[in-house]
Amino acid sequence: MTLTTDELRADLTLEQLRQLVGLVEYDEAGDVFPVTGWDAIVFVVGNATQTAHYYQAAWGMELVAYSGPETGNRDHKAFVLASGSIRFVVMGAVDPDSPLADHHRRHGDGVVDIALEVPDVDRCIAQARSAGATVLLEPEDRTDEFGTVRVAAIATYGETRHTLVQREVGGTTYAGPYLPGYVARSSSMTRPLRVFAALDHIVGNVELGAMDEWVSFYNRVMGFVNMAEFIGDDIATDYSALMSKVVANGNHRVKFPLNEPAIAARKSQIDEYLEFYRGAGAQHLAVATEDILASVDALRANGVEFLETPDSYYDDPELRRRIGEVRVPIEELKSRGILVDRDEDGYLLQIFTRPLGDRPTVFFELIERHGSLGFGKGNFKALFEAIEREQEKRGNL
Ligand SMILES: [Fe+2]
Repeated sequence: MTLTTDELRADLTLEQLRQLVGLVEYDEAGDVFPVTGWDAIVFVVGNATQTAHYYQAAWGMELVAYSGPETGNRDHKAFVLASGSIRFVVMGAVDPDSPLADHHRRHGDGVVDIALEVPDVDRCIAQARSAGATVLLEPEDRTDEFGTVRVAAIATYGETRHTLVQREVGGTTYAGPYLPGYVARSSSMTRPLRVFAALDHIVGNVELGAMDEWVSFYNRVMGFVNMAEFIGDDIATDYSALMSKVVANGNHRVKFPLNEPAIAARKSQIDEYLEFYRGAGAQHLAVATEDILASVDALRANGVEFLETPDSYYDDPELRRRIGEVRVPIEELKSRGILVDRDEDGYLLQIFTRPLGDRPTVFFELIERHGSLGFGKGNFKALFEAIEREQEKRGNL
């Protein structure tokens, strides 16, 4: 296995990535839909100019590219932000008739595109079509003075898409700052922070009864494998419940937990999401860090808000027995509200932010893995209880 261009730029090693995101070796030759890794996570937001500033100021991301009216794009502004090996794009409508304005009216701030880097776009689209996927964009070359990329797109849950990006065409790797049409751009904010190194997983919330359909979509269309399965009581509280299954690409760089609401006494957090996002969509982006304590301290100092964890979570003797020794005293986790979970492979530390925008929809997770390849199953209940307290404050429980 080799590192991607973005991972090399982030000074990551394969060994670090194995620990950070649970990368595994696999045989790409037998893959019907080879995926190298993430290409970019594209958000549509109400005000891209200010959102780009927020991600630089609060999250320490670095502005690297731009497209907008000044570059000939009269429809919208798009800011490309880099952090670790991840690329985020925030787009906002300039033209009131832009389709992005309609998208934002329906969904609020959210993820419109989980773009994946692939070695062969045409092979992927042929496979996707034969497996019954909706092809939103046929393969096409896009060229500028930096070279050529080949792109296509398929539909996934809700109004979310996977753009497939092939950055090496005819033996030459595209050398521009993002994609043709974008220009390099930096900002006067000169102190990028490294609060995370790589993207670990993106969770999709889908409608009641649709989870298995989407698991099957990723199996059938994209050759993803099933990683873990959590069902029913595993992740239920008195009020709220959900079911979740996880699919991953061959090398496990790309992992998609898929949630659907389960029947419970009151409205679950998934139902709340589906109501306010007006349908299925990306619920959270989990970013991998090597030092979650330092990351949380830096983000909090910049005003980023996290879900609170009750003291009772840390004082529970059952938790202390279950998790055993971790790299720092539990008091260090408790003072920051960081959750901990252990399974047969090791442990992980994690914490969740409050929703990023005005609607109770998309948010971030920070995750620090120490051998565990899980998703914090043991924390689901503690987390949900914390989310429900927030739901109650919003009057949505
Ligand atoms: Fe997660």
